[in-house]
Amino acid sequence: MKSVILFLILACSCFPVSLAWAFGSPPKGRALVNEHGCGACHAWDGSARPEGIPKLAGQKYGYLVRALTHLKFKEVTSDQETVIRRIHPIMNEMARSLKTTEIADIAAFYSTRACIGPVDVDVANIVQPQGVEKCEVCHGGMRSNPWADTPYLAGQDRAYLLAELRRLWEDSKGQDDEVERHHRLSEIMFDEGKQYKLEDLADYFAALPCRPPNVGNP
Ligand code: HEC
Ligand code: HEC
Repeated sequence: MKSVILFLILACSCFPVSLAWAFGSPPKGRALVNEHGCGACHAWDGSARPEGIPKLAGQKYGYLVRALTHLKFKEVTSDQETVIRRIHPIMNEMARSLKTTEIADIAAFYSTRACIGPVDVDVANIVQPQGVEKCEVCHGGMRSNPWADTPYLAGQDRAYLLAELRRLWEDSKGQDDEVERHHRLSEIMFDEGKQYKLEDLADYFAALPCRPPNVGNP
């Protein structure tokens, strides 16, 4: 396991939490969220009830900053190569007008709200799907997630998880240059040759309490 973790540290752009971005202002973020009507879909506090809409409450600050920045610019290129692509017409439009400081404030607001996930879960009875150990090195789940820019998946909306997993899976196969979500890490998210059942992975993370036992919100 140690070598897997070392490989992931070298291969990904993950940073320990202590190196996270300068923090925005939660009260300003709350005002901006009201002003822009984000609550219509995500609920005022990011607890999002409608199916298919991601929960934002308690999500990592660094990840929220990245996600909104990706959605704002749609594509990030380096040496003429696309390293990030995130196409979603509604969210591209919502994020387009946000300034960098506003993104930091909104991320500060949502990340400091308590996360909302299933309660009274008997974690001992949750069956781990095949291949999930690797996912948990980066995302946490039964274990904690120490990476500042890697999202928590535990307790996330199931339909949202499944939709994003399908996008990232398609991206990892490199079959289509025009995938809606491209991230250079998707290639190492899934081990080659391993059978993944994306529905089972979405079921698993959605069923977990949003923090592993005894772990707070860093
Ligand atoms: C009309 C509904 C709607 C509104 C309004 C809306 N969102 Fe979203 N938001 C979505 C959907 C749907 C997604 C999932 C996008 C995808 O699949 O890539 C999303 C994704 C996101 C994400 C990425 C979450 C993740 O886990 O990657 C963030 C952050 C976000 N929205 C913040 C906001 C903010 C801030 C506002 C207001 C400025 C806002 N949204 C307004 C529907 C909406
Ligand atoms: C090397 C670390 C790493 C591994 C291993 C990994 N991921 Fe990810 N994953 C990430 C990062 C970083 C992101 C955010 C990408 C971005 O910024 O768009 C992400 C994004 C996601 C998302 C979208 C979350 C959201 O809120 O939009 C899902 C779903 C996901 N991963 C599922 C998985 C599953 C399931 C596995 C195991 C099969 C896995 N990941 C393995 C690092 C990893």
